[in-house]
Amino acid sequence: MKRRNARIVLVLTCWAALGGISGRAAGEPLTPVALRCEYRVNPSGIDETAPRLSWRVASKQRDERQTAWEVLAASSEAALAHDNGDLWHSGKVAGDDTTAIVYGGRALVSGEVCHWKARVWDKDGKASDWSEPAVWSMGLLQQTDWKGEWIGYDKMRQIATNTAPLFGAKHIPLLLPPPPCLRKEFTVSNKVQRAILFASALGLADFHLNGQLVSEDRFTPGWTDYARRVHYRAYDVTPLLRQGRNALGAILADGWYSGYVAWGQKRDRYGKKPRLRAQLQIDYADGSQDIIASGPDWKAATGATTSADFQMGESYDARLAQKWSESGFDDGKWDSVVSGAEMKPVMEAHPAPPVRVFAEIQPKSIRRIHPGVYVFDLGQNFAGVARLKIKGEPGRKITLRFAERLNPDGSIYTDNLRNALATDTYICRGRGTEIWEPRFTFHGFQYVEVTGLTRRPSKQTITGLALSSATAEAGKFECSDPMLNRLAQNTYWTQRANFIDIPTDCPQRDERLGWMGDAQVYIQTATLHEDVQAFFTKWLVDVEDAQRQDGEYPKVAPLIEGENDGGPAWADAGVICPWTIYEVYGDTRILEKHYQSMARFIAFCTNRSTPGLLPPEKFHCYGDWLNINDETPKPVICTAYFAHSTQLLARMAAALGKTNDAVMYNDLFERIKAAFNRAYVGPDGRIEGDTQTAYVLALSFDLLNAVRRQQAAQCLVENIRKRGWHLSTGFVGTKSLMLALAGIGRNDVAWRLIHNDTFPSWGFSIRQGATSIWERWDGWTPEKGFQTPKMNSFAHYSFGAVYQWMVENIGGIQSDGPAYKHILIAPQPDDKLTFADTTYDSIRGPIETHWRKVGRHFRLRVTIPANTTATIVMPAVDVSSVFEGGRRAEDSPGVKAFRWSRALAEIEVASGTYDFETK
Ligand code: BGC
Repeated sequence: MKRRNARIVLVLTCWAALGGISGRAAGEPLTPVALRCEYRVNPSGIDETAPRLSWRVASKQRDERQTAWEVLAASSEAALAHDNGDLWHSGKVAGDDTTAIVYGGRALVSGEVCHWKARVWDKDGKASDWSEPAVWSMGLLQQTDWKGEWIGYDKMRQIATNTAPLFGAKHIPLLLPPPPCLRKEFTVSNKVQRAILFASALGLADFHLNGQLVSEDRFTPGWTDYARRVHYRAYDVTPLLRQGRNALGAILADGWYSGYVAWGQKRDRYGKKPRLRAQLQIDYADGSQDIIASGPDWKAATGATTSADFQMGESYDARLAQKWSESGFDDGKWDSVVSGAEMKPVMEAHPAPPVRVFAEIQPKSIRRIHPGVYVFDLGQNFAGVARLKIKGEPGRKITLRFAERLNPDGSIYTDNLRNALATDTYICRGRGTEIWEPRFTFHGFQYVEVTGLTRRPSKQTITGLALSSATAEAGKFECSDPMLNRLAQNTYWTQRANFIDIPTDCPQRDERLGWMGDAQVYIQTATLHEDVQAFFTKWLVDVEDAQRQDGEYPKVAPLIEGENDGGPAWADAGVICPWTIYEVYGDTRILEKHYQSMARFIAFCTNRSTPGLLPPEKFHCYGDWLNINDETPKPVICTAYFAHSTQLLARMAAALGKTNDAVMYNDLFERIKAAFNRAYVGPDGRIEGDTQTAYVLALSFDLLNAVRRQQAAQCLVENIRKRGWHLSTGFVGTKSLMLALAGIGRNDVAWRLIHNDTFPSWGFSIRQGATSIWERWDGWTPEKGFQTPKMNSFAHYSFGAVYQWMVENIGGIQSDGPAYKHILIAPQPDDKLTFADTTYDSIRGPIETHWRKVGRHFRLRVTIPANTTATIVMPAVDVSSVFEGGRRAEDSPGVKAFRWSRALAEIEVASGTYDFETK
């Protein structure tokens, strides 16, 4: 996927950029690279006491694998450099494991720093050099380690702001309190060895030390069910400290804790009084320690940020800016802070990447729509903020409003934002060029309307800052069809726009919730764009926190009041997401962690069912959400998902060695399947409802015997044909529609669907200029214009699940079994494409396919990571027509077996890069 172009500069998120992959791997034999701890590069302040280490093995040679490994972990860089594993010396361990090596050294204590490295032995028993060193540090492992108190400032919290009329309401006064600044000075008079800031908040906190922002992270500490747990992060601030006077401070905003969250113009969902909790731990060279902790001796006041809310926007009055976070600032007139919080959550280290800016976007065009009102088109729909760069006289007010689409007259279309005001304001200080970017809000937008400028703006006036959880890039796709490239990009951008600490439905309207259905529909695709293992590790705790007493999973996690009954296909995210993380990354710990919770969910589904394992008369179910006049009966969806989740739990039980449970859940699956067939499947394979989604579910959830399967496959194709070769599926069916067609050998139909650009299809939205995946197939049509503003997002990822089919069928990359240890490479080009380049950075290293069609020739360049094997399936007219690197394929080094039948060659290969060609 060509994401790098003149306008869009990606900011470091790939493992390589984070220092994970060193250049020295190239050319050397077998080398451990990309070392990670708990699936993050050099994480700071983790609280997993038995962390999992992982690496990749890289080699330019074919047929390489690891036969043994060794890890050293040391308490200092120097000890590690001298090969002194004073924390852990694993010794040489036979085996090819690279992904979940559990730290087995001496017990780690709070704040401890662990330097580590690994070496490996190749297939001939030759040892590699030691890897580049990596590091992780421990967080505060005991609750009693927290010396800091919860502090805040409540004085200015009741300021109501009257606003313009909002969607469905008139002049509702908003409450938008100014986020306070909190500060404390202290003296450093000893030589500092290391200083770590442990920082948390009930709300959002940006910490500053000696006038500098401590981190580029945003929206920390993220969103959890604050009544139960709140996260903290640890920052190494050693370079920011100085001898003598220092000042530590923070700006504390409402965020998810007490800002406007979800619909209904409702705020304070967790509490009314934001708080921060922090401690700066300074270790001196002489072995002594100081802890500068949040407490009653801190001072507080409001500052230049005059309001800050996710949905409503942020405002800043530059005339009020002061150097409040520097030492020597006179806080004599500041108030004392308030101590104590409304709740007592458990403090836990944030286990996932922070939210950061990952791309800067320059405007594509600027249009003046009224005197003094300009609309900037950034060319890409994304989530984030705009950085403003202007000159203006003191007190000049600049207003920024955000939108995903334009009205026909060129003005911004904001009706679909519902009650989200999405308005930022800046008041000039009046001295030279001023640059401002909000820190505590984000919008979903492609267009920015700027009002209040005195002269014509330039493209430098606005820069889009795209925000997302800093998951590492994992995939690229490009082929000869620009429409498919755009589609792949649209799924990528919509994913980034919605992975903001949790997987959300949309980034623009007053919703932005962790919708379960959307997450399960999309999770597998998400793994193909980005490394989302740690990201989902975090969210699955939110899911379990939101599970109902009786075992039902919610609609959204973190939970919103009244939304605790997910219903079929939404609740099932609680089972499907851990399973997917296991399948993609081989993570068994996530299965262990949530196993009991998943078992409770299956028990709930069983208890809810009739004795014959069918749904009760009444139950909550969204159905096949946003389908096109093809409503699948809810009992069909309910029973299919009950069967599916049960089968997945059986597989998870087997993966965990819980043999009895595996048998029990398999048996339950078989009984639900039988019930499904008795109740909904006719003798001709017709499934109740006769909808595309009904067939897709039955086919992809393994609910039919061979005969019925064939019949159902025909019914599915017939349904698509009758709709003029169009899909009609909603969220539930679209997830697997294309995969089901591939599964029944009808990729010819899948190709028709993906090439369509008439309604409803992916191509239709792209023809209307979509730069993201729309919530609805008909978000905008030439005949009807915009769909109802009540629910019409232009950045919802569910329909983007098609990207999985693209990677698996155009790129031809699939894992065969858990975690890409054995890979299936089977590109299935159609007549219209002439080439495709697909890469996927798996947990074991990059997998690549590059194919070209030239006349009757088919060339396929494949890369398989060291320590893995692959089966390659490619078209070949006869048994002797396949060559590799100029030789007959079966004679090529690394090729282990060669079979041919019915115009397909099936080649077993060891790791390495291969150039196959059919003549
Ligand atoms: C959300 C969804 C969600 C749905 C539930 C919508 O408001 O935006 O994406 O899955 O409700 O039906």
